[in-house]
Amino acid sequence: MAIDLAVVPVAGRGTRLLPLTKSQPKEMLPVGRRPVVQYVVEELARCGIKRILFVTGPGKTAIENHFDIDVELINHLRETGKEEFLAELAFEREDVEYFYVRQRRQLGLGHAVLCSRAFVDGDCFVVALGDSILGLNERSRIVEVMVERFKASEAAAVIAFEEVAPEDVAEYGIALPRDKDAEVFILDDLVEKPDPSQAPSNLAVAGRYVFSPVIFEALAETPPGKNGEIQLTDAIRRLIRAGRKVLGIRLPPGERRFDIGHFESYFRAVVEFAVADPQFGAALRQRLGIKSC
Ligand code: G1P
Repeated sequence: MAIDLAVVPVAGRGTRLLPLTKSQPKEMLPVGRRPVVQYVVEELARCGIKRILFVTGPGKTAIENHFDIDVELINHLRETGKEEFLAELAFEREDVEYFYVRQRRQLGLGHAVLCSRAFVDGDCFVVALGDSILGLNERSRIVEVMVERFKASEAAAVIAFEEVAPEDVAEYGIALPRDKDAEVFILDDLVEKPDPSQAPSNLAVAGRYVFSPVIFEALAETPPGKNGEIQLTDAIRRLIRAGRKVLGIRLPPGERRFDIGHFESYFRAVVEFAVADPQFGAALRQRLGIKSC
């Protein structure tokens, strides 16, 4: 059973990044030399994904334009002697097919994933959040590792986690792991954005999931939860409570997630990618008095 399909929700309004996101999708914000969502697509392609379904919403057409093959631009670069820039469009030729479905009402991440149900049509699939970059310098293979685990374990879901500072748990889905020190663990519970005083751990959902289609049954029965939204976390919790096996897997040491959902983490991503730039990073580090990265 090959898993070659990823659902990438990109319908969120990006409210926490206003006014940046008033007329452009947060997934198209620049980090280093690419818009955020291009890193996500390249990561998925590296991990064997061949079909990507974006769940879009109002104001997101820039994402569709970005992944089109722009013949006019290619010709323009050729005709004006700017062939050196053609390499920057190599991502257009990624061995991936793109599909789009609209989330017609903003009812939360769980509802966005539910909008992919007819397309997914009974397959097992990956969900990769379009506003989360994994790892600097195109190295992350976590989705590939998760898919292997998923296939070997007969789990209903495998979810990537990273440790966050205790005060940041209120921003994320937080795990109750059966074995808190294990690299791969059974999830006993998952809580969306808990109060830090009640958080079951500081292991936060890192924006990558592998699901069997049973998630759709759970999502269809999930009422609005935190912030009045239909939460993917709550549907996963239903699976756990129904006795289904759900596994957590930690990001490997040294691999971090850059969450573009709010300014603090967005700024961190912008700075870290800029100082790691192969061409300008060294000079920038010197200027900023940063020793290495
Ligand atoms: C969503 C999920 C949350 C997860 C987070 C990762 O929250 O609901 O469980 O930890 O993404 O970025 P959002 O950022 O949409 O509020």
